Amino acid sequence: MDTVRYIIDDSEQAVFKVHRSVFVKPEILEQERSKIFDRCWLYVGHVSEVRNPGDFRTRVVGGRPVIFTKGADGEIRVFLNSCTHRGTLVCREREGNAKTFRCFYHAWSFNNCGELIAVPGEDAYGPNFDKGHLALREVPRLAHYKGFYLLNFDAHAESLTHYLAGAKEYLDIIVDQSPTGELEIIQGTQEYDIAANWKLLAENSFDDYHVAPTHITYFEYLKDSGVNVAIPKGLLMPRHGLGKALGNGHAVIDNQTYRGRPIAYWMPMYGEEAREEIAQIRAELVSRLGEERAYRAADTNRNLLIFPNLVINDGSSVTVRTFFPLTERRMRVTAWAIGPVGESATARARRLDSFLTFYGPGGFATPDDVEALEVLQQGIATWKEVEWSDLSRGMTKPIEEQLNTDEPHLRAFWRRWNELMQTD
Ligand code: FES
Ligand SMILES: [Fe+2]
Repeated sequence: MDTVRYIIDDSEQAVFKVHRSVFVKPEILEQERSKIFDRCWLYVGHVSEVRNPGDFRTRVVGGRPVIFTKGADGEIRVFLNSCTHRGTLVCREREGNAKTFRCFYHAWSFNNCGELIAVPGEDAYGPNFDKGHLALREVPRLAHYKGFYLLNFDAHAESLTHYLAGAKEYLDIIVDQSPTGELEIIQGTQEYDIAANWKLLAENSFDDYHVAPTHITYFEYLKDSGVNVAIPKGLLMPRHGLGKALGNGHAVIDNQTYRGRPIAYWMPMYGEEAREEIAQIRAELVSRLGEERAYRAADTNRNLLIFPNLVINDGSSVTVRTFFPLTERRMRVTAWAIGPVGESATARARRLDSFLTFYGPGGFATPDDVEALEVLQQGIATWKEVEWSDLSRGMTKPIEEQLNTDEPHLRAFWRRWNELMQTD
């Protein structure tokens, strides 16, 4: 790749292209691991997942196994899930509540604050053996924004607040949907692999150009249910813009609702009985937030990408989705539903139904996207002959004429990616 540029970005000529080698070359992934995943803030979990002291979740973040946990001292930490003795995973459960983590290999035990508290046959070690220096290692940086915890493997990274830039406003809108400001991850996790490069899902998450053709089954279903589906064709939304760059590679597709967000529009699939409650939820938003903000919370939806790999789909339900490359041609996706603490059982049921039947790996939307991405990955095996992908839609238009099918936000992702890949 030394002689080939990754992107061509020429505003004057309205040309924006991405070189397809970035989706297929293992050495590109190697560079991404050190220049992106070792330097950017990466989502690890939500405060609601570790409510009680001892609660833990094990995850793989940025290629490292980690333990996201709350200690007996009430502090939330992320440990590298690696025994300080020889390196074994000290915790092999997906989640639970534990006072101690006992390594199964030689049985060293650590408390949930990370301290090494027991070593079988400790007297066999010499005088320099110091348990105090053998605590579980914490990730270099951990911070949260309104309960969303992100970690950074770069000790010198900028602060999370600074890093999030314009994405904070969109996280605020999601948090505002809870009358108490509190959200919770709802039990149950979706996890699946896609045989495609991870960056293709970043693009796909907020690419509205594909929506009408790829998701035709869903629109036909809506039509059959008597829903007006005329809106998605190049909808202008001047009040809040459409595809928007939010700084640092973060971006959002921000749309008028057309796909049946429960708190904005009653749709036939929610059942007649949902009408009243949805109206009440909206009325509460108006009285608490005012008309303008309630309109944004309830009547618009958004797919937010926090660079590089956290997507929040705030639509007919709210999903938190992250994905990591396993290889240059395969990614692992993990998704959770999130909702207001204390919402009614019926609202929660509608939320989970949407999480499953729309956003889920067997739902209306995701199988189409998985198919699209895998077929794309197969097609770009031709990258040596057909070298460039085009991302220039809307490049010549002034911002007030942009449509949701234009691509300024996709270009923002790629510009940031390219900038990081040029660093040493
Ligand atoms: S590797 Fe953990 S106790 Fe030996
Ligand atoms: Fe899609």
